[in-house]
Amino acid sequence: MKCAKIAGLGKCLPSKILTNADLEKMVDTTDEWITTRTGIKERRIVDKGVAASHLGVEASKIALERAGISPSIIDLIIVTTITPDTQFPSTACYIQEALGASRAACFDLSAACSGFVYGLTTAVQFVKTGLYKNVLVVSSEVLSAITDWQDRSTCVLFGDGAGAAVITEGDQDSVLGVYMGSDGSETEVLSLPAGGSRIPTSQYSLDNRLHYMKMQGNELFRIAVRVMVDAAKRALKKAAVNVADISLLIPHQANERIITAVAKRLRIPQDKVYMNISRYGNMSSASTIVAFCEAWEEGLIKSGDIVVLDTFGGGLVWASAVIKWL
Ligand code: UT7
Repeated sequence: MKCAKIAGLGKCLPSKILTNADLEKMVDTTDEWITTRTGIKERRIVDKGVAASHLGVEASKIALERAGISPSIIDLIIVTTITPDTQFPSTACYIQEALGASRAACFDLSAACSGFVYGLTTAVQFVKTGLYKNVLVVSSEVLSAITDWQDRSTCVLFGDGAGAAVITEGDQDSVLGVYMGSDGSETEVLSLPAGGSRIPTSQYSLDNRLHYMKMQGNELFRIAVRVMVDAAKRALKKAAVNVADISLLIPHQANERIITAVAKRLRIPQDKVYMNISRYGNMSSASTIVAFCEAWEEGLIKSGDIVVLDTFGGGLVWASAVIKWL
């Protein structure tokens, strides 16, 4: 087996900020409710016409530059998103064209908020088997496009953004252990009901607002804490890493209370937990990679550090990865 190294990270956030005060003017909510229930103060929203590929391309350019990799030698592009530019072609193909990564194979991967860890794990397999040397993983979301801006129970939670990681053949492995889980008996808890083959877009789906995300927040909250703790423990076991050796926990940024509860149950002190939910809200698959990239940019991740990514989302799906920063 070859070794697979995380060679560079990048991110792109739209410049337009939507604050809790702005939302107070749109729906029956308050800054106090949003802050205390979620930890979110503001989120980024794209301008009209900006799609997932546009954010993904900008994040990719930064990751590729940091990795010292030219787009012309990318073998594979994997995009994780629940807001693809189009049902098909894949968003990966749009990104390929914009980057000029002409020799790459391209596909999109659907694993909701766990998308980055699923994508990273997939990329690592391609490199370790020797099939590909340079893989680009992009997690990009324009959740504002599938958010019901009349539904206060969901519209305060989400934001837009993208992150990217370059995985290359190296001397050592960056990913020491992973765990991925799913539960298809809970598909109703968080979903985008219409627009696929199950409920094609129609006047009915539009009238019933089925082209927007639906979420049973309470139910999700309960499951999220349990499965995120379980996923992290299993990934740590596979990596043969102790909780005490973790330098930084980077959880999916869905709710500050979920993050705090997960860290507490894992016995990880809060000063080793990275959070940027107050500034960006929940960006689905982009949340984890944006937080990973930002933590690195802030100098919080140094060579030899052990970083644990821990995610959970619609499907249901969950996944955790134990990473040694090389
Ligand atoms: O990324 C994928 C994974 N996502 C998650 O894991 C999300 C998990 N869930 C959550 O983060 C939380 O459940 C929410 C933040 C979504 C909701 O918090 P909660 O503490 O579970 O609130 P709730 O749904 O139980 O609602 C409590 C009350 C309700 O009023 P009544 O029925 O008690 O009178 C809601 O109608 O809060 C009301 N409410 C709001 N009030 C003001 C719901 N949304 C709002 C709002 N502003 N935006």
